[in-house]
Amino acid sequence: MASQFWKPGAERPPLLTDEDDGLFVMAAQPYYSSGYMTIERQRQTLPAFKHRTPLLYLIENHATTIVIGETGSGKTTQIPQYLVEGGWSEGGRLIACTQPRRIAVQTVAARVAEEMHVTLGQEVGYSIRFEDMTTPGVTKIKYLTDGVLLREMMEDPLLVRYSVIMVDEAHERSISTDILLGLLKKVQRRRPELRLIIASATLEARSIAAFFDTSAERRSQSQAMDLVFPSRKPAILSIEGKTFTVQIFYTEEPVSDYVRDAVSTVNSIHKLEPPGDILVFMTGQDEVDETVQLIQHETENRHSDLVALPLYAGLARVDQEHAFGPIPRGKRKVIVATNIAETSLTLEGIVYVVDSGFSKQRFYNPIKDVEALITAPISRASAQQRAGRAGRVRPGKCYRLYTEDDYTNLMSAETVPEIQRSNLTSTILQLKALGIDSIMRFDWLASPAPEAMVRALETIFAIGAIDSDAKLTSPTGFQIAEIPLHPMLGKTLIASCALGCALEMVTIAAALSVQSIWVPSRGRQKELDEAKLRFAASEGDHITYLNVFEGFLQSQRSAQWCHRNLINYQALKKVEDIRSHLSKLLQRLGLAVKSCERDIKVIQKAIVAGFFANACQLKISVEQGCYKRIRDGEEVFIHPSSVLFRVSPKWIIYHANTVTERHYVREITVIESPWLMELAPHFFHHKSMEY
Ligand code: CDP
Ligand code: MG
Repeated sequence: MASQFWKPGAERPPLLTDEDDGLFVMAAQPYYSSGYMTIERQRQTLPAFKHRTPLLYLIENHATTIVIGETGSGKTTQIPQYLVEGGWSEGGRLIACTQPRRIAVQTVAARVAEEMHVTLGQEVGYSIRFEDMTTPGVTKIKYLTDGVLLREMMEDPLLVRYSVIMVDEAHERSISTDILLGLLKKVQRRRPELRLIIASATLEARSIAAFFDTSAERRSQSQAMDLVFPSRKPAILSIEGKTFTVQIFYTEEPVSDYVRDAVSTVNSIHKLEPPGDILVFMTGQDEVDETVQLIQHETENRHSDLVALPLYAGLARVDQEHAFGPIPRGKRKVIVATNIAETSLTLEGIVYVVDSGFSKQRFYNPIKDVEALITAPISRASAQQRAGRAGRVRPGKCYRLYTEDDYTNLMSAETVPEIQRSNLTSTILQLKALGIDSIMRFDWLASPAPEAMVRALETIFAIGAIDSDAKLTSPTGFQIAEIPLHPMLGKTLIASCALGCALEMVTIAAALSVQSIWVPSRGRQKELDEAKLRFAASEGDHITYLNVFEGFLQSQRSAQWCHRNLINYQALKKVEDIRSHLSKLLQRLGLAVKSCERDIKVIQKAIVAGFFANACQLKISVEQGCYKRIRDGEEVFIHPSSVLFRVSPKWIIYHANTVTERHYVREITVIESPWLMELAPHFFHHKSMEY
């Protein structure tokens, strides 16, 4: 293989010293506007900048390079730019940088386009599910979710378009990150010229480095002869900026109410400690809001000058920006945040951290086939990460609202990776589609529970995506795998094409794919219930979504109409976008996208064809709204958000379920029991059915 295929080009732009201000600037740039200098100057003050040359050297000489650095050190925004400057995008090759979250993909791509003075979507682009903002032949840096890169592997298993793939935020260990790392290790064997960069905020990088160390494996003869290939021993580079010591304090006794204790800790910091912002870690939105209110309340009572601001993922953009923005002079900022402030966001000026010791974590129960969001103790790795946020500007202090004994003996060393606590149906189907036949023998970074794998295999077998040899079926299995939705919803879409109601079903599937089509209802529950009633269909939530969307079209996509009906305008625009993506995809798969002209029964049947395993029967003479899931007798309840909450029809099918106080099911449609035998005889044949 010719070496110039993978080697960085020789023509790196030389770095010249700008005499006037003693900073490095790129000589090849055409102009120096004042804005340009500011942004360029900022780039050069980032910790990553000092490591630019060693970094490029390591990447050239190692198949895998692991980069560790605090949040804000420039990993995500700078490294891809260094790679372009180092020639890695020459010859039309792409540099990929994956993120676990969509929102990060968009904001980071916009930032980097600005830094490079290019239009977003040209040299710097991004790709998220249902949205591709790249230009073939022009784009050099592509930010994308790890999920989207996995999907790309279905068409391009060796990812030949990419010269370098940077897997960012690897410490989060999202399912897609874990799967991607496992697959990239395979790709590297076939493409030794591919370079991987794995960026992580913590030292968890060690186990990832061990995973990618293939230096002891034998090379094939042709590879062994070819000395141009890089070392297969991963390099680890720390681009840690200057950090200061953080003094840790524990409570002497276990804390019974950490919200109350956090508030009093904040107050005593404010009273006794020199200026510096405070960051408080809580577990969820409700707790964050409660803490903010309590602090504000005390501030008013005592005429103190604290400004408490919330920060969590579901917060409106403007409110998020408050947390990052300046506050009136002489006041002290308290940011009360969920886990998102642990690594993924850069907050300036924090000197004190108050750590509740808990976070909300998702856990999947494969026996009951339900996920629960549980408030659980964080790991020691998380606790260290939280404390680290106090040492960015000067020596800081971290107040842990738990005992040292709990830290040492109760908390686990590291957070359980998502893959070991989630439903794996989509994941397993995707691996099958990528040709991984033996799921059990896949090179997992962390192996999932066998029960969860078996449950996933059962589900994709039941919907006909794999056969009894666990091989993907043709065409159904391949078609379902092509659709970027949960396999049961994918199956529903395919069935809707056969039943002649795909036009309606793509709308429903799109509505199920956005956060919520209703505006957040905090404090306005009654109003929202009334708005829902205006669209409520007796058949249930799916048809209600259809009614809302049709109303939206009839209103000529009016924002005012949405506002009047407590409908989220942006969400409906998104629905429209997703539905057109889905129709195109179905047509590309050779399927017919037709309307059933409001023959609702066919739509209900299409839902049954995908979700029959979620069919439930009303339990007579028990508490209102209590159901028995047919396949295993599990007791479930209709969630109050459903339009069928007070209706309690005899037979229902649900789209989603969660456990909180109860096992709740949501997004529900009424069905007729004979449809189960009609559409899924293989599944219900042996199960008992009482009419
Ligand atoms: O990835 P890492 O956390 O190491 O840092 P980064 O995301 O590359 O951010 C480096 C710096 O760029 C931050 O300290 C911010 O000052 C700036 N930045 C920004 O202004 N706007 C963004 N959307 C992202 C980064
Ligand atoms: Mg980053």
